[in-house]
Amino acid sequence: MDLADWGAKKVMVVTDPLLSKSAPVQAVLESLEREKIRFALFDRVHVEPTDASFKEAIAFAREGGFDAFVAVGGGSSMDTAKAANLYSTYPPADFFDYVNAPVGKGLPVPGSLKPLIAVPTTAGTGSETTGVAIFDLVELKAKTGIAHRRLKPTLGIIDPDNTRTLPPAVAACTGLDVLSHAIESYTTLPFDQRPHPARPLLRPSYQGANPISDVWALQALHMVARFLPRAVADQGDEEARSQMLLAAAFAGMGFGNAGVHLPHGMSYPVAGMVRRFMPPGYQVDHPMVPHGMAVILNSPAVFRFTAPACPGRHLEAAAALGADTSRAREADAGPILADRLIALMQQLGMPSGLRAVGYGSEDIPALVQGTLPQHRVTKLSPRPFSEAELAGLFADAMVY
Ligand SMILES: NC(=O)c1ccc[n+]([C@@H]2O[C@H](COP(=O)([O-])OP(=O)(O)OC[C@H]3O[C@@H](n4cnc5c(N)ncnc54)[C@H](O)[C@@H]3O)[C@@H](O)[C@H]2O)c1
Ligand SMILES: [Fe+2]
Repeated sequence: MDLADWGAKKVMVVTDPLLSKSAPVQAVLESLEREKIRFALFDRVHVEPTDASFKEAIAFAREGGFDAFVAVGGGSSMDTAKAANLYSTYPPADFFDYVNAPVGKGLPVPGSLKPLIAVPTTAGTGSETTGVAIFDLVELKAKTGIAHRRLKPTLGIIDPDNTRTLPPAVAACTGLDVLSHAIESYTTLPFDQRPHPARPLLRPSYQGANPISDVWALQALHMVARFLPRAVADQGDEEARSQMLLAAAFAGMGFGNAGVHLPHGMSYPVAGMVRRFMPPGYQVDHPMVPHGMAVILNSPAVFRFTAPACPGRHLEAAAALGADTSRAREADAGPILADRLIALMQQLGMPSGLRAVGYGSEDIPALVQGTLPQHRVTKLSPRPFSEAELAGLFADAMVY
């Protein structure tokens, strides 16, 4: 009905192969038929998209001449739809024009995009609220992204019926992504300590922690602490599933404006350099470290390091996760938060560190090189870091 109200005539529906026949996709197709809106289904989203899979969706969008988009799925599907919308609406001279600097040119989105409705089926990325699209740049062996507030979907449809079939392993990884979004955006460099952009158009999507994003981040953190273990333990727990889907969107409104920092920056090479790891519980035919897992494996090491920059915020996060912080000193903030995270990771069946997903100390130089160009997020670290300190963080994340 929204698409009909907006006058959409031909819609591209974007999803992944596993979800192609799922109830949420079928509901979308049936409602488009009911509204007599023409559509084409693109169901070849790569789980954790690559530059090649983005380009396939972009070619489909260009050929189809669509005037609106609907994404149904997790971050992989929503991000692919954002890219298809941008690149078919304002075709650039080169694919890298919109990719964030210094990997690409980081050109801003020139004008309004076509309407995009995002229907999340994971309680994770919050991509239905953010102006970010992430993909794996295969030649770089690291993920990178496109970020601009005009990429934000026009509408997000947050319906817990759509996460009913989420396998527990996916619920765990995506839920830990939400948790890290919340803690990272709450502890990221404050907005008034960032350099200001030369023009409003150049304002970054990720503006630093600010009083508005703090509200969303803290609320999401409390919800995840309370409901993630329940949502993973019992797919039938309607309340937990509902609260987690809301928490994902809340955290998205927090980090989508404030930003995330080192756990995400370090996750991009962890995901991109994967060799053999096949995540248990995921139905995929290629090795991968799922995004939420790649992020949370870095988080305890990072927060031990960043806590001295804003110990009070790290302690608040630890308290939200159930730690007793009544007698904690500022110097304890990092270890207390890291310990709570590690306990939760164990409870949810996460690997015990980067070593368990196939990395060793010999990989650290390459992991560091894959993180350094991620300026969009690394520059938001509340504590400046050297290359040697970054290597130390990877070493610390090998085994918890
Ligand atoms: N745009 C952003 O702001 C943002 C933020 C964080 C992460 N990301 C990106 O999003 C991607 C990860 O997205 P994700 O974690 O949501 O997962 P996903 O989209 O990669 O899906 C993971 C798996 O779960 C399956 N699945 C999804 N919903 C299901 C359901 N309801 N029932 C059964 N199976 C289901 C999918 O088919 C897939 O196999 C990564 O590429 C990551 O980098 C984007
Ligand atoms: Fe994330």
